[in-house]
Amino acid sequence: MAKPLGAWGEAESSSPLNELAAVLPPDILLTEPADMERFGRDWMGDYHTRPFAVARPRNAAGVSLVVRECHRLHIPLVPQGGLTGLVGGGVPTDGRELVLSLERMNKVRSIDVIDFAMVVEAGCVLEEAKRAADAAGCLLPISFGAQGSCRIGGNVATNAGGFNVLRYGMTRDLVLGLEVVLADGRIWNGLKVLRKDNRGYDLKQMFIGSEGTLGVITAAALKLFPKPVQVETAFIGLRTVEDAMALYAHMRHACSDLATAFELLMRAPVEVSLAADPTLVDPLSEPYPVYVLCELSCGGGIDLRGVLEAALTTTEDLVADAVVATSGEQASRLWRLRETMVERQGRGERYFRTDISLPISQIPAFVGQVTPLLAARVPSGDVMLYGHVGDGNLHLNVIPPTGIGAEAREALFHEAEATIFGVLDQFGGSISAEHGIGRLKRSAFLDRIDAVSLDLATRMKQALDPDGILSMGRILDL
Ligand code: FAD
Ligand code: LAC
Ligand code: ZN
Repeated sequence: MAKPLGAWGEAESSSPLNELAAVLPPDILLTEPADMERFGRDWMGDYHTRPFAVARPRNAAGVSLVVRECHRLHIPLVPQGGLTGLVGGGVPTDGRELVLSLERMNKVRSIDVIDFAMVVEAGCVLEEAKRAADAAGCLLPISFGAQGSCRIGGNVATNAGGFNVLRYGMTRDLVLGLEVVLADGRIWNGLKVLRKDNRGYDLKQMFIGSEGTLGVITAAALKLFPKPVQVETAFIGLRTVEDAMALYAHMRHACSDLATAFELLMRAPVEVSLAADPTLVDPLSEPYPVYVLCELSCGGGIDLRGVLEAALTTTEDLVADAVVATSGEQASRLWRLRETMVERQGRGERYFRTDISLPISQIPAFVGQVTPLLAARVPSGDVMLYGHVGDGNLHLNVIPPTGIGAEAREALFHEAEATIFGVLDQFGGSISAEHGIGRLKRSAFLDRIDAVSLDLATRMKQALDPDGILSMGRILDL
């Protein structure tokens, strides 16, 4: 039997938690602090809070029961995947929200190689879903550093991006259908694998990127692609960001749009990776201020290496130096230069992180304007700049000095945000290209939203969750 008393204080026998425990099957609910601890701590270590309770249903009917009863008892809840989100969305409001963990719903329900589609439960870890697609000779193209921990429901709820958006699009572009439990507990079955379907409103779009505020995703039908049999990876040293973006435009033409990734890295993040992992070596014989990690991929019948080498040869004026991986092992070492710094840049402490986007053509001008401003206004911070520039998406982060006090850290974060977002606004950019709004960027988001958009967003939230039990205070102040 689930323990009926609340872990965070003595509960009356008629408390909402006791009532909830009485109607749920015995092994669904966790209420002991030790059992619940991991559900209140995000992957990055930025947030640590106490869940009101944790529910771990095994199927959509179980999710429906939990949500319906939470709705009846006015218990606010937050859906949770792998807790790798970077804006505090999946972490419960301290002591108040029940965590609805999808971790037990981790099955791949089906894969069809003629539909090029798979149906996956929301709690399936992304890497497991990718492995299942691979075993069927297909590619599920959502790829990024947290793929060993994040879960499909979290990917859909955040409309995750990653390294391969350039070729395959954001998660939104890959979702064919969804199964969602609504705030009143009803199950919406939109789990179809139709490629084309214009029957009225495309309801699934409301839930993609809604960060748990409009419904609980329990399963997704996802597009698959033919598994590439050839992959070429190049690490390119350049003199300027302008050169990197000129190379980007050239490569897309010269490589017949076979590029699957075009990542920019400044020297500083490369040095973070080199210092963090002694098995990594500087791929080029001398350091360059700017690097591009570029990947091409395709099926058979094309001389992909020839395509890449020809593209690099015809851009000799832009490319200062380059290395092309000659084995899968070498390619994965190049990718480790990109991925290691994501975890290590903060030196184990909180840092200021962004996931901004702007028109691709404006990246050099933006970087040229914001970099000297940051140096002047946040002189003690280390600036890390990298990102998916093929999608116009930059991660421009500021790392405070080690051991800085809490107050000074907050002041630095405030100045960094005002500086970066201030310049971004002039370029018509977005304060969130990938990670979402969650709690972290809510005020920056609301400061910028126009009245009509806010009205529409508020009405959507009120229509789907009139009692405000889902993910309160994320995205909107509701
Ligand atoms: P969680 O963190 O558990 O939740 C995220 C949000 O989704 C929360 O608001 C939560 O309430 C909601 N949610 C979760 N599951 C559901 C559900 N079933 N139904 C409804 N709402 C739900 N993101 C990118 O876009 N691109 C990247 O390249 C990228 N790289 C990363 C690298 C690292 C090292 C890390 C730590 C994170 C990275 N992220 C990236 C961010 C993160 O991995 C993604 O946002 C991911 O999609 C979150 O999935 P999750 O399962 O961990 O979700
Ligand atoms: C990345 C994450 C942080 O691109 O979005 O590494
Ligand atoms: Zn990213």
